[in-house]
Order: sequence, then structure tokens, then C-alpha cells
Amino acid sequence: MATDTNSPPPNSRPRVICHMVTGLDARVDVSSWCATEGVERSDQTDLYYELMRGFGARGYIVGRVTMAPYATGMAEDPGGAAPARRLHLGVNRDLPLAVVLDPSGKLHWESGVLDGEHLVMVLGPDVPDGHLRELASRSISYLVSPTQRIDPDWLLAELAEHFGATLMLVEGGGVINGLFLEAGLIDEFSLLMIPALDGREGARNLVETSRSMTELKLSLKSVEALEHQAVHLRYAVNRDTSVRVG
Ligand SMILES: NC(=O)c1ccc[n+]([C@@H]2O[C@H](COP(=O)([O-])OP(=O)(O)OC[C@H]3O[C@@H](n4cnc5c(N)ncnc54)[C@H](OP(=O)(O)O)[C@@H]3O)[C@@H](O)[C@H]2O)c1
Repeated sequence: MATDTNSPPPNSRPRVICHMVTGLDARVDVSSWCATEGVERSDQTDLYYELMRGFGARGYIVGRVTMAPYATGMAEDPGGAAPARRLHLGVNRDLPLAVVLDPSGKLHWESGVLDGEHLVMVLGPDVPDGHLRELASRSISYLVSPTQRIDPDWLLAELAEHFGATLMLVEGGGVINGLFLEAGLIDEFSLLMIPALDGREGARNLVETSRSMTELKLSLKSVEALEHQAVHLRYAVNRDTSVRVG
């Protein structure tokens, strides 16, 4: 699959594509979906990762809740000197990036590489020194945000400066997608839609935000029927500046 060649946004921040797998009701918690007749869910998931690699992005950005099941390390402060309080760059950072918003430092990892991707933890300003030492000792990169609520604009600028990012994928969950969409930072949605339904009231949606979306204008870029009964939908996101944000 070709690398995405769309031109960068005007202020030269990294371009952002929100890439997700959804059922027909745009819910995103795969564990609660009905099956697709005659198709293994793992084959559909593999398709999602294949599309993801095809974008040629510098990496993906996800929320703490999404990554919690994969964070299987032990909490342990190795002790020693005071850690860097703003930025630490681990080894292996030429790999694709797995950037995780974890403002309170709740996640612990075994190493800095997860499924071939280099972990970059994005932390709040009150995370204790011991947690930063733990991350650095496992060669995990980290960025410490100046604010507890991480500003996605700030994060993209940091990823461009320290990791050379020009294209990032935002990959959920709904809260993180909502954070970037509200800030006007999602340029495109890439949805792998599969025949599945969740249907539970309150189940996580593609985008979770309290803001109205009336200022957005979406347009279809492409639609492609794929194997395993999946459809790949791409939508450009534009803003109607004449409409006030609700
Ligand atoms: N279908 C798909 O393609 C797909 C992809 C990814 C995830 N998912 C699903 O999505 C669900 C999880 O999504 P979710 O919306 O509940 O959670 P999420 O977006 O993964 O994570 C939300 C958490 O991120 C942190 N966070 C969010 N905004 C922040 C900000 N501005 N500053 C600092 N930290 C911030 C907070 O962590 P703290 O709580 O620690 O403060 C918040 O609770 C799971 O069911 C997962 O399987 C589906």
C-alpha cells in the first residue's frame, strides 16, 4: 500500500489521521461486538493493522484506557539520580512510535519496545520522580506535559521536534479521538467498518466529546470493499468557519 502523500496542514504540524475499526453503529469496544458470519475477527483485525502500516505514519497516539491491557510491567523505582523532568529519549526510537497519554503515570511496561513499536509515554506534571526513573531505566521515552490535561497541539509539536513526526495516526479510544477532533487536529478519518454491532447504551463511540460537531464538514475521500466482509472508508475533515463551535 502506498504511503500517504497528502500535503501537510498549513501550520506544518504533523498531519493526523484517525484510524479505527468500527461496527455498523460506530462503537469501538471490539470485545462486545457480535460476530461476522463466516469470518474470524482476528482476520479483520489483521486487516486493520495492514491498513495502518500502509499509511507510513511515524506512529500512533492512544489513550491510557486503550493501552492498559498491554501494560504488564511491574512498578519499581530503580533509585538513583533525579530524572529529567521534561523529556527522556530512549533507545530504539527509530522504530514506529506508540505514543500513550497517561497523565497520572498509571501504566508500567516491561521494556521500551511493544510489538515492534517504541513507547513514548506522555505524562502530567505531577508524576513522581520514581516513575520517570522506572521509564528511563527501561529505555522508554517520555514527555512531561506542562499541564495535567494534555494539550494535543503541544503534543504534536513535541512529536515533530523530537521524533521528526510529519504524519501521526490517532487510534482511540473515543476520548482521545474526541480530544484531537475538538482541537481541530484530525485531518481525516480512516474507518475499517465490519459487519458487527455493539448496541449497548453508553458503549464507547468513535468520538466521545461534549461539544457539538456543527462546525465540521466531512467529505468522502474513498471507499473500498476489502476481504473478510470489511469496507475501508476514508473521510476528509474540514471546518466551516462561519459556524460557531457549539
Ligand atoms: N475499535 C478501535 O479501533 C479501537 C481503538 C482503540 C481503542 N478502542 C477501544 O476504546 C476503549 C477505550 O477508549 P476510552 O475512550 O474509554 O479511553 P482512551 O481514549 O483509550 O483513554 C482515555 C484516557 O486517556 C487519558 N486522557 C484523555 N484525554 C486526556 C488529556 N487531554 N490529557 C491527559 N490525559 C488524557 C485519561 O487517562 P486517566 O484516566 O489516566 O486520566 C483518560 O481516561 C476500549 O474499549 C478500547 O478497546 C477501540
